[in-house]
Amino acid sequence: MNDTTYNCAVIGNPIAHSRSPEIHHAFAQQFAMTVHYERILATSEQFDSTVSEFFAGGGRGLNITVPFKERAFELAGAQASPRARLAGAVNTLWQQEGLLHGCNTDGPGLVYDLQRLQANPDGRRILLIGAGGAARGVVLPLLEAGATQLRIINRTAARAKALVEQVQQHLPTHAARLSAGTLTEVEGSWDIVINATSASLDAQGPAHAPIHYAPEALAYDMVYGAHPTPFMHTAQAQGAARCADGLGMLVGQAALSFEIWFSRRPALPPVLDQLRQQLRNDATH
Ligand code: ATR
Repeated sequence: MNDTTYNCAVIGNPIAHSRSPEIHHAFAQQFAMTVHYERILATSEQFDSTVSEFFAGGGRGLNITVPFKERAFELAGAQASPRARLAGAVNTLWQQEGLLHGCNTDGPGLVYDLQRLQANPDGRRILLIGAGGAARGVVLPLLEAGATQLRIINRTAARAKALVEQVQQHLPTHAARLSAGTLTEVEGSWDIVINATSASLDAQGPAHAPIHYAPEALAYDMVYGAHPTPFMHTAQAQGAARCADGLGMLVGQAALSFEIWFSRRPALPPVLDQLRQQLRNDATH
């Protein structure tokens, strides 16, 4: 593989902030591969043709980010993976025998990061806060990874209920492990609590009722930043033994895209350390 250059890219709008090029370049280094990974800014009118031109030009793999994940799902059509189908969104595209294929590695990326944090979902009781696109993408991977209980709570409870019902219809075998509620219906003791709301982007996290964290429990915010998020502060005050932000999920989803394109799974920790350092540097300059 050493003397070939592979072309990959991420398409979004905006795109300048994307960390994907540095992540994938670091992965490529782990295998002494040459990967040229660029950011592509597209309008919605340009999106479809940008994707086809990329693959027509011999591109190996594309990541898709906001606001095009749903559009990419439509483009993948019958070649969208079951996970992508449940999420209704695709973040990874590639071509196989002339056909466009799509997958959603966001949820598996979260699972990969939870494993890194010694919080494998297998046998764990998980409380998921939020029922939007970000939550939708992680439900199936968490269940498949063996969560014994998955409760989805949301400010708009009807949305949580609709999500649970959709999963139950598609996968009746998982039905008994799923439940839905409002932000105040948090009864029980939880091993992993995940914030999948966009509330962290404001100054405060989601206003949920006090949560009972089991011993050694992990509070995980899918959002990341140079500093601990408001949700992480609240979790610590309510007794969570450990807190993490979503930087590892970002690296995890990228690692699984890389694996789809190159059949090699990169290690997270060195890349995560590098990215964390960059985030801190950016915040102080
Ligand atoms: P995303 O793709 O990031 O998930 P989304 O589909 O708009 O974006 O969903 C945002 C999620 O964050 C929803 O669960 C939303 O709750 P509602 O369904 O009630 O709107 C949740 N959310 C956003 N701001 C919030 C806040 N201030 N407090 C609690 N939940 C919030």
